[in-house]
Amino acid sequence: MNKSLLFDRSYVNGQWTKEGTASFEVMNPANGETLATVADGDVIMTKKAIEAADRAFKPWSKTTAKYRASILEKWNDLIIAHSDELADIMTLECGKPLAESKGEVAYGASFIKWFAEEGKRIYGDVIPPHTENRRIVVIKQPIGVVAAMTPWNFPLAMITRKVGPALAAGCTVIIRPTCEAPLTALALVHLAEQAGFPPGVINIVVGSDSAAMGKVFCESELVKKISFTGSTKIGQILMAQSSNSLKKLSLELGGNAPFIVFEDADIDQAVAGAMVSKFRNAGQTCVCVNRFLIHEKVYDEFTAKLCKAVSELKIGNGLDEGVNIGPLINKNAVKKITQFVEDAKAKGGTILIGGNALGNCYFEPTVIGNASKEMLFSSEEIFGPIAPIYKFSSDEQAIQMANDTIYGLASYFYSQNVARCWKVAEALEYGMVGINEGLISTEVAPFGGVKSSGQGREGSKYGIEDYLEIKYMCFGNII
Ligand code: SIN
Repeated sequence: MNKSLLFDRSYVNGQWTKEGTASFEVMNPANGETLATVADGDVIMTKKAIEAADRAFKPWSKTTAKYRASILEKWNDLIIAHSDELADIMTLECGKPLAESKGEVAYGASFIKWFAEEGKRIYGDVIPPHTENRRIVVIKQPIGVVAAMTPWNFPLAMITRKVGPALAAGCTVIIRPTCEAPLTALALVHLAEQAGFPPGVINIVVGSDSAAMGKVFCESELVKKISFTGSTKIGQILMAQSSNSLKKLSLELGGNAPFIVFEDADIDQAVAGAMVSKFRNAGQTCVCVNRFLIHEKVYDEFTAKLCKAVSELKIGNGLDEGVNIGPLINKNAVKKITQFVEDAKAKGGTILIGGNALGNCYFEPTVIGNASKEMLFSSEEIFGPIAPIYKFSSDEQAIQMANDTIYGLASYFYSQNVARCWKVAEALEYGMVGINEGLISTEVAPFGGVKSSGQGREGSKYGIEDYLEIKYMCFGNII
């Protein structure tokens, strides 16, 4: 690992800093080894970061979008120039296969480049007035200090997807990454420092007491916006805690993605889509398939082909050549996946391939046939490499099963019939629909969910709106 990108403390007001002597260890999930010992930032540090971001907000918000874009572009270039080092750190701390880590670096940088441009296009409106002597103008202004609370499964891209639009809009930010994978985030902020953001514009506080830090963000009058990616349960807590300050929240929460294969689907295409959608990051993404709903006429063919593709996956340390499935993030994750499998077996599920924990944090990619609504994973997010397969016999039944969840993030289906594609896409109660496509994430499209999967959108022209306030100006007495 390249040590020049390794940092072990928070970055606040342009300084690498720590309070006291408390620390936590960052582990490599591939072998349990300690990768780094990081100074444990606390609520005091969090408050200092908020104050620094607040002081930096006015001058930063007054700079031109073009100037902000020039710094964002430098940051993007530095990230690309350090792709290999960043990918190494990412694989070491979160287990992701190296090729996927490299992909994430490019994906993450794309949000910075996109929003550097998009910031220049924050247009207002001139509205035809309701009386002759008035003129109506609408402008958009940055919302203020933003707290970005980000997960371990995409330790780089989930930061840039929030911070890119925030900084481009003229907001200042405090990042709070998870303790499982803070090293990528710290390296990213080091590159932001090199790119030339003024002190206080971008801050990062690494700390193990996520609940206390989150509460400080929620209750602070200085923080105007929280953007969070994580579980629905934590999203609900943040929302409740933010009620007094009436803070704006963007929440990208849990999912329970259905993947429907109709009888007229191209089965080979569907299997290829299923593999990328289910097994990316060992199943640890919010948009990974949670339930395969397969028409009874193609159930056997799809299942056999999926099992064959799964049998060809190589499990191992993400740093090793050709590995497709790395370890899960920690032992608790393995425990949870094991419980899902045991529960399914007890309720009549058939293990078609896999089904076993392999020691350390590894779990075999697994396909479970004869899945049913009673099984735990039909209502809970799996976040691991298990593919449960359910059977259906009509379009109505497939849509009913797909929508029978509190979640509404990503959904997928395969069909060659254009009319069916429109009908099903419109009927799915999800923020995102992949039609004959298993990989839908990109900086140019709006990522986000409905129902208990959250609110707000990230990426695309819509993604910057979450960091802006609308101001209506009425000019009177124009005689
Ligand atoms: C996530 O798992 O939250 C993000 C996945 C993605 O951006 O594709």
